Amino acid sequence: MTAPYMGKPISRVDGRLKVTGTANYAAEQDPPRLAFGAIVRSTIASGRIATIDTAAAAGASGVVTVLTHRNAPRYAGPPHKAMVDPERGEKLRVLQDDRITHQGQPVALVIANTLEEATHAATLVRVTYSAAPAITDIAHARAVLPTQQKTDQGERQSPVQQRGNPQGALAAAEVKVDHQYVIPRENNNPIELHATVAAWEGDRLTLWDKSQWVDNVALEMAAIFGVPPESVRVVSPFVGGAFGSALRTWAHVPLAAMGARVTRRPVKVMLSRREMYYGTGYRPHTTQRVALGASADGRLSAILHEDEQETSTYEEYTEAVLDATRFLHSCPNVYTRHRIKRLNVHTPTWMRGPGEASGVFALECAMDELAVALQLDPVELRLRNEPERDEYRKLPFSSRSTRECYRVATERFGWGRRNPEPRSMRDGRWLIGWGMATATYPSNWAPAAARARLLPDGSAEVSSAASDMGPGTWTSMTQVAAETLGLPMERVRFTLGDSRLPNTPPHGGSMTMASVGSAVQAACRKVRADALARGSEGNDLVAAMRRIGQPVEATVNATPGADAQKYSKHAFGGVFVEVAVDPDLGETRVRRVVGAYGVGRVMNPKLSRSQCIGGMIGGIGMALMEHAVVDPRNGRIPNANLAEYPVPVHADSPPVMDVIFVDEHDPHVNPLGVKGLGEIAIVGIASAVVNAVYHATGKRIRELPVTPDKLL
Ligand code: MOS
Repeated sequence: MTAPYMGKPISRVDGRLKVTGTANYAAEQDPPRLAFGAIVRSTIASGRIATIDTAAAAGASGVVTVLTHRNAPRYAGPPHKAMVDPERGEKLRVLQDDRITHQGQPVALVIANTLEEATHAATLVRVTYSAAPAITDIAHARAVLPTQQKTDQGERQSPVQQRGNPQGALAAAEVKVDHQYVIPRENNNPIELHATVAAWEGDRLTLWDKSQWVDNVALEMAAIFGVPPESVRVVSPFVGGAFGSALRTWAHVPLAAMGARVTRRPVKVMLSRREMYYGTGYRPHTTQRVALGASADGRLSAILHEDEQETSTYEEYTEAVLDATRFLHSCPNVYTRHRIKRLNVHTPTWMRGPGEASGVFALECAMDELAVALQLDPVELRLRNEPERDEYRKLPFSSRSTRECYRVATERFGWGRRNPEPRSMRDGRWLIGWGMATATYPSNWAPAAARARLLPDGSAEVSSAASDMGPGTWTSMTQVAAETLGLPMERVRFTLGDSRLPNTPPHGGSMTMASVGSAVQAACRKVRADALARGSEGNDLVAAMRRIGQPVEATVNATPGADAQKYSKHAFGGVFVEVAVDPDLGETRVRRVVGAYGVGRVMNPKLSRSQCIGGMIGGIGMALMEHAVVDPRNGRIPNANLAEYPVPVHADSPPVMDVIFVDEHDPHVNPLGVKGLGEIAIVGIASAVVNAVYHATGKRIRELPVTPDKLL
């Protein structure tokens, strides 16, 4: 294949490695003399360790050592804090004292010659506690204002925002709806389990880690162990999904490094599926009130949106649940209030579409309820409230294609044939429902660096510390590099996932294509220009490199320009869903999803479609299945496994998942004109399902997931 590559449906450059099992993931690293670590976890949610007896474990077959708060290495300094960490509070210091802040907190690490010996010996550690009263029950916890809230774009703001006179406008509205919506705790469930392999050589640490941000892991280990950041190397070339769970550095990472330091052997710590529910974060439980007021002709006059989310006692985790409410639909009177509940649980974290996935769920369900109250088509309601600019930031949108998304998606879906009457559409005994929602997610761009190196043979090596948790970063960056250099893709080798490479922001918030892509493009432009200037061969890069006879290299740091502040930058979409509900059994099947998205330039339609299908399936899980149950007595999670916490499998994925990218040229978001795609793909899906279930059954479900018991 020859250039241009950008915009082409190119298959993954790492596809062969993955399907042949030769792509190596963190847990597959087996350096010589490897030992295995098994974590012993707290069985109470709050209090102190009274006694801890490790004698039996230490004497068990194959055990090398047992670390507890009594003998573990001390932190050299405070834990490092990065943009993925909550601004308020401090990360758990693992094995540093006897305090217990949550169920499942690591209290010991057993290191043995084999995984089996470590796992067995971990059961022999005897811990007694002096338990303190713990609140793990979301229903009985007090909601308080957080210190502040950050939007997805990093803007710090007050947790209470208001424009106009929302209360007065709601009271005076001709039509209103006012309801509460609940999203239970949901757990990130990537198929690849979290794992870390740590190896020290003197004061130098190498970690093979499942990570969405190798630079951050390196900085954190440097802070904990008191070594220079350059002494820590974090390698993470392949990530088998994460959905946000690998953005922060969780307790098992320093544990593996401590174990390796003490035993002077490489140590592997891999979490079990059950441990992932206690150790790597989750989407917090959210209770939201949405009140909408409108005129009889369907113009919004008031929006009140309040939410409460769980967080831990030691960190103030907040996400931008209410951000979209302030600009998605036009409305002069808007009130939003974000509150948190501090529970004796571990800190929640980013899970695909963080903030928007939760907030837009409630908002778009409420919009559907308003459409019903107005006897107005839900698409028409949104069109009547389409804003001309961002009414919150008082800025023009860099681009916004909602109208076009609704138009193409309704046409593809056949929305015009919808009978608005609930229970009016059937397929045999199944009740059929059609529902829709609007989707949005911010277009983020953070500083990133990349290096491009041209070789005398006319090939190129391009690199950046970035991660690829599945979207296809390996491939899309190779496309950008090859096209910019004017070389065939086969002649360009892109490398990522190593903290020794030029720095990048987190592989999250849908900002990798924008941030790393812009850096790759800039580095390739520079190295090409440098080589052509030195080679005096006109525009022939290969001839120029042959003449120069040695490598030419450029490292460029790409930073958002001033233009970034002049626009409100978001991706938008319209999602449409068909469900079939069994009227006797209450079972809901999603039969079709059609999503149309305005996401700027689509770098690779094949990978992008795949990305969106993944988000749609994630949304179906959120709508119909996912619920991490927390025992209100002690914070235990009885369904911390994939048998009792179902996620959609192929049989749950609809036969029709149509992904449409509308033409959108956005010169303002970043040099590549890409808006980001990973997060928006889940946003809106759960509300569209709930709205479709209402249309099918006449029953309005306001608490996820929509399980059969709620429909009977
Ligand atoms: Mo995304 S939840 O920032 O990986």
